[in-house]
Formats: sequence, C-alpha cells, structure tokens
Amino acid sequence: MLHASARLLSQDGGEAFRAGEAFRDTVGWRERGAACFALLTAQACSGAQSSLAPAGPDARAIASLFWWMTAGSAVVWLLVMGLSFYAARHTPVREREQPRARAMVVWGGVILPTLLLTVLLVYGLGMLPPLLARAPRKDGEISVTGEQWWWRVRYLLPSGDHFELANELRIPRGRRVPVSLRAEDVIHSFWVPALTGKRDMIPGRATELALEAERIGTYLGACGEYCGASHAQMRFHVVVLEPAAYQAWLQQQQRPAQPAMGQLARVGESTFQRVGCGACHTVRGTAARGSVGPDLTHLGGRRGLAAAALPNDVAALQRWLAHPKALKPSARMPPYAALGRDELRALAGYLKGLQ
Ligand code: CUA
Repeated sequence: MLHASARLLSQDGGEAFRAGEAFRDTVGWRERGAACFALLTAQACSGAQSSLAPAGPDARAIASLFWWMTAGSAVVWLLVMGLSFYAARHTPVREREQPRARAMVVWGGVILPTLLLTVLLVYGLGMLPPLLARAPRKDGEISVTGEQWWWRVRYLLPSGDHFELANELRIPRGRRVPVSLRAEDVIHSFWVPALTGKRDMIPGRATELALEAERIGTYLGACGEYCGASHAQMRFHVVVLEPAAYQAWLQQQQRPAQPAMGQLARVGESTFQRVGCGACHTVRGTAARGSVGPDLTHLGGRRGLAAAALPNDVAALQRWLAHPKALKPSARMPPYAALGRDELRALAGYLKGLQ
C-alpha cells in the first residue's frame, strides 16, 4: 500500500507541477496576488457557517478534534520532511548504518504511527457518546424533511399540535433540541457547521441529531450531500433565541396568517387564489391548503427565500415568482412571468406581508 500511494503521489506531484507551470504561464501577477489574498483572508470565513467558529458544545468538540489532528499531522509532516532532508544530504555507510536503519524502520514505521493513531482513535471514540446522545423529547421535537431543493420543517409540540414552516429552524439557547430527519426523494444531508456535524437524510429511514447552541445568533445550514441540480442552493437558517423570545415565536407561528393589509396586498391575495398557488402551498387561515411546496403562513418573517438562495424582500420575491428555474435550476416551482409586473409586485407584497 505504501508503494502504491508513493507511486500515486509521484504521479499527482508531476501533474500538479505541470499544472503549476501552466498557471504561472497564463496567470498575471494581479490574479496571483488576488489568489494569495483570498487564501490569506480565508481564515476570515469564520462566522455563520463555519465549523471553526463553534457556537455549541458539539461543534466545539468537533473543532477541537480538527485542531488536534491538524497539529498531529503537522508534527508528523515536519518529522518526515526533516528526515528526508537528512537522508538527501547524508551519504550512507552501509555496514555501520544497518542497525540504525532497522531501528528507524521499527520506530518510525511501526511504533510511532501505532501510538499516534491509537491516541487519536481513543480521543475520537471518546467524543462519540456525548455527540450521539439523544435529546430529551419532553418539549417536543423538530422534524426536518429534505425536499427538491428545500427543507420542510415541522414543529411537533408536546401538546400534540404541530405547525410547519420551511428553510428555517428556531431553537432556544442552552437547550438540547431533538431534530428527526427524513428525505422524500434522494439522499440529502443536514448540516449546521457552527452547531454540530452533518447527518444524512435517507429516503425510507429516519435519522436524528440534536442541536444545542450556547450563543444567540443566526447560523447557516447547508445540504452536505450532492442531491441534484440545485444542491448548492439548498441552505437554511438556524436562529438561536433567548428562551422567552423563543416561546413568543412558537406562539406566533401557531397563529393563522394575518389578513392582507392595504390595497396592494389585497390584490396580491386575490392573484394568489386566482392563479392557484394554494394547490401547492398552505397559508393557514385561508383556502390555500396545498402541501407540495413550503407552508407560506409566516413567509414574510423568514430570514431567507427559496432555501436561503435569495434575500427575503419584495424585489427578490418578484424575481423568484417570475423566474424560479433560472434562479434555482430544476426547482419544482413553476414560473409566473406571464402575470406581468404589477400583478407580480402585488403578489410579492402580499407574500412579504405574511409576517
Ligand atoms: Cu440536498 Cu444536497
């Protein structure tokens, strides 16, 4: 295996070297400077969607595993490079070097790697029980279903009631919340890097994980498994609230939609009913009861639109209604460009008003 990987390495090395030559020939200093700058500033990618900026205990454990493994591999790399330089500069004297070489193979090839990997294995295995611990269900649970390409989010309350929203989860700070995961079509993977590791959503099988956050804020989640044309646009928000604010939000979400306010929104509402949006979407408190697409009852108050592919404002809503497939390839939402500008504006105004 060592021989095989060495061969692979040398082939890859050759290709990488040739690619590097080609890069130097075709790319100007400006682009090279920009590339270096991007690499240097990559560390600034901490924040809403980074497992290196953990906001909860699970993500912190995963981040520390990453740093320990990085430090471990840095030490091994330095050791191997040091020995390679030493070997390259040193002329071996066969008879005298034989026992030293054998000791080096035994220590560097067997004992050290075994020790290092055992330490990492024990450390990694020790992390698993708290990470896989089931969250208590006495406060209800959140059920998330991967769809084409959005997230159906259903809050199952301890009272037995439930309500639905899409592409957004809200959780209280400091509590471990159970999230059950399923998929309707293909395998998706639920991943909120700042809070925990990813978990696959497999059709026909329920999986689950727990979300726990220590800091309030808005974190981004993404689909971690390639699932088709708009996989990269299958994201969602996790909003962490103080417990009191969370309870208020739960109450608000259970209410039906507020009636359309103002002339524009009323025109939008009648357009919504007339063109049949209700065949796919539910707006609780109205005749719209479709279940194919996202529940829109409180759409206006969500952080993003179309699985966080767009900002949630009237202009983006208008673009989305007119050209969903251009903004999100293979989305099942049909285009309504034929409605014309005024009607689209009214429809977008009505939807944004569903707070
Ligand atoms: Cu869903 Cu990738």
